[in-house]
Amino acid sequence: MNATQRTILVTSALPYANGPIHLGHLVEYIQTDIWVRFQKMRGHRCSYVCADDAHGTPIMLRAQQEGISPETLIARIGEEHRADFAGFAIDFDNYHSTHSPENRELASLIYNRLREQGHISTRTITQAFDPEKQMFLPDRFIKGECPRCGAADQYGDSCEVCGATYSPSDLKNAVSALSGARPIEKESLHHFFKLGEFSDMLRRWTSGGHLQPEVSNKLNEWFEAGLQEWDISRDAPYFGFEIPGAPGKYFYVWLDAPIGYMASFKAYCARSGLSFDDYWAKDSKAELYHFIGKDIVYFHALFWPAMLEGAGFRTPTAIFAHGFLTVNGQKMSKSRGTFIKARSYLDQLNPEYLRYYFAAKLSSGVDDLDLNLDDFAQRVNADLVGKVVNIASRCAGFISKRFDGRLSANLADAALYQEFTAASEAIAASYEGRDYSRAVREIMALADRANQYIDEKKPWVIAKEAGREAELQAVCSLGLNLFRALITYLKPVLPRTAALAEHFLQCGELQWDSPRTPLLDHAIAPFQALMTRVEAPQVQAMLDASKENLQATAVSDKSAASEPILATISYDDFAKIDLRVARIVAAEAVAEADKLLRLTLDLGGEQRHVFAGIKSAYSAEQLVGKHTLMVANLAPREMRFGVSEGMVLAAGPGGKDIWLLEPHAGAQAGMRIK
Ligand code: MSP
Ligand code: ZN
Repeated sequence: MNATQRTILVTSALPYANGPIHLGHLVEYIQTDIWVRFQKMRGHRCSYVCADDAHGTPIMLRAQQEGISPETLIARIGEEHRADFAGFAIDFDNYHSTHSPENRELASLIYNRLREQGHISTRTITQAFDPEKQMFLPDRFIKGECPRCGAADQYGDSCEVCGATYSPSDLKNAVSALSGARPIEKESLHHFFKLGEFSDMLRRWTSGGHLQPEVSNKLNEWFEAGLQEWDISRDAPYFGFEIPGAPGKYFYVWLDAPIGYMASFKAYCARSGLSFDDYWAKDSKAELYHFIGKDIVYFHALFWPAMLEGAGFRTPTAIFAHGFLTVNGQKMSKSRGTFIKARSYLDQLNPEYLRYYFAAKLSSGVDDLDLNLDDFAQRVNADLVGKVVNIASRCAGFISKRFDGRLSANLADAALYQEFTAASEAIAASYEGRDYSRAVREIMALADRANQYIDEKKPWVIAKEAGREAELQAVCSLGLNLFRALITYLKPVLPRTAALAEHFLQCGELQWDSPRTPLLDHAIAPFQALMTRVEAPQVQAMLDASKENLQATAVSDKSAASEPILATISYDDFAKIDLRVARIVAAEAVAEADKLLRLTLDLGGEQRHVFAGIKSAYSAEQLVGKHTLMVANLAPREMRFGVSEGMVLAAGPGGKDIWLLEPHAGAQAGMRIK
């Protein structure tokens, strides 16, 4: 193998650090992981790196919303992502963050080289600015009425009602989705990458066999439309890297995101001793592949190769784009419970099921793929449990009980075994070409052959007949050798099941060529179940959990990722709140409720009764005589213990740490607050 050993670097797109990994993401990470595992089994030197994409406005805002620093947020999400990936046996050689020293250094280096070569321009542009939040507003953070159909509450770039696309300045009665303020137009100096200067290079590159045919066709449309300069800077406040020599200006998240591939690899080099330049220098002989979703082709097939070229690095060997996941035939939906987080799946089901199901559906193209949950259960049970594992369980018992775990010294049917080894290269070619559905079909056809053999030989009949011991051992030994070949071919897809099988067969780590040498006169371990069936209640529990998650988190699917994560109300809504100073004239514990106090509030003549959940922090006596703030026009609410006629304002994480908001000493009961 060494003579033809390839040196390969593989990446998957970097997931945003503002939301959980979901099954849609996993199409990509599973697709990539299978390919990498396959390359490693073939004996190639293959490295797989990834990272969290930690920069940008949504991450900054989400941290603000949670009252934590962006660094704290991305550290927490990074841990969750790592745990989810580990759960699905995604075996990165390094998992990094774009908010890392390596990435800062490389982003600056690339930017500086581009600038030195004259590929960066600066000019002043006018943009919507939120005067209250004191920040420029990305299109998705501006809301207003659609200029075409008048629909209310449409975002700054397109109308969900009539489908019109426009620029945010066309919106009628536009407001900031962050503060509700009316945006003003404001000027700012921006930095641009002059993509047009790479037109010739990109035309050559995109038609040079680095892309799937569907993708290069799409790119031709973009070439027709002309390559625009790319705005790579953002104004403070922004969570990212400050641009060298440009205080207050930050690299746009998409500038340093792909550089994160290099940064993650650089960190891996420091640990593994690999040479960064061997992989990234202009004359590198290494292969470089990026697996991505079809939505981010523009960044990877235009900006990225141009940046690399302009900065004097090598360009990718190929970009492999895949389609999007639907669940039960529809876009993943939170309300249908089909927006399934990696964690909700792992709480119920074996990750190898999903790896197999995706493999069985993935091809080399960019078509979307559907997770049909009935088909999923049926397919996994029929193929993996019913066909593959079944071969081992039908043969293993006889070998253990009758032959002390020892396989026969010869192959009972050398021609049949030869069929299995002869299929190896065709299956390998399917994996290599990312046509996993084809690989799976080929492997399952062999599984059918193995089961057919066992059906014909009927070891359970032979076992009952005297004098046929050798035949029984030979049939079952061949069955187990066929099983071993199948597990070898499935190992990139089912790494954990393969590990269990390696232990059962006592055969060491299976490599792609292992089936060439069958296990003869060899002792195996007692058989243990390698995989159980998918049960409908597990699938249902996963769906139920996904529905429950609904309100709990601001998850970011593709549609929500770019939407503001802060729930906003309009200024008009806010103005409706009647906030008043109230004096607590009486307070009593509600015996049946361990959290509630019943307060009597004086609003300067008028009295109200309010139930407040603050008993863990205050005793009734502590409260009498205090002033606090109340929402005086909250609709009365019927509670189990009486009617609550308003709400007092308090803050804190809970338990003992709840603080009633108190107005300044001069405030008097009944005063309006604004
Ligand atoms: N942060 C960027 C990528 C930067 S790469 C330098 C991003 N992040 S993402 O979290 O939104 O998506 C990560 C990957 O998952 C992308 O390749 C995206 O296409 C893929 N998918 C996200 N949702 C998906 C589905 N529903 N189905 C299939 N793939 C999906 O984009
Ligand atoms: Zn409209």
